[in-house]
Amino acid sequence: MGIDVWLPRNAAEPGEPEIGAAVSAGTENLGWDGLSECVADCKRCELSNSRTQTVFGVGNRDADWMIIGEAPGAEEDRRGEPFVGRAGKMLDEMLRAIGQSRNSVFIANVLKCRPPNNRDPKPEEAAACRDYLERQIALVQPKILLAVGKIAAQNLLGGDASVANMRGRAHDLNGIPLVVTYHPAYLLRSPSQKRKSWNDLCLANRLSVEGAA
Ligand code: URA
Repeated sequence: MGIDVWLPRNAAEPGEPEIGAAVSAGTENLGWDGLSECVADCKRCELSNSRTQTVFGVGNRDADWMIIGEAPGAEEDRRGEPFVGRAGKMLDEMLRAIGQSRNSVFIANVLKCRPPNNRDPKPEEAAACRDYLERQIALVQPKILLAVGKIAAQNLLGGDASVANMRGRAHDLNGIPLVVTYHPAYLLRSPSQKRKSWNDLCLANRLSVEGAA
């Protein structure tokens, strides 16, 4: 799953790869320790200037389920762990409903650094971070990927479809089944959508079991 990363035009500093050039990300052979060190030291985009710390991901590195969100928020940036704010509590509830927990799944984000004021990730930030997530997926080898929210789903699947359009069916990411559902923060604002999200989780559960059979 190795990819080239296109550096944003303002990312290069003296001694770093030429701006605008495709560079081999070099993470495709890293193990967990090397990858987490690489992420902790990352200066590929301007978010490295504003972050408190990187947020690598958390959970079971041999998990059947991998949950992928958008980017750390303020609380995650402070604590260095994904989904620990209010949305995190909702994600914990969703996981509990399907007999999982944040220790049994692996949780990561498209971006490892917090965008200022929780703005959406810029395309060049997501591109610079992409191979970290790809390497995490390759290391975990989950049976099911659950993309929570539009930003995660669009980044993983490409395109600009809404969650309403992408949810409720099985997608495929390099041979791994992927289900899209609403972001827990959205479910906090729109609890009436929880039923649909529950259906998505049930679909993901079925796919994870079918894949294992
Ligand atoms: N929202 C996300 O998408 N990820 C987090 O880690 C926290 C909130």
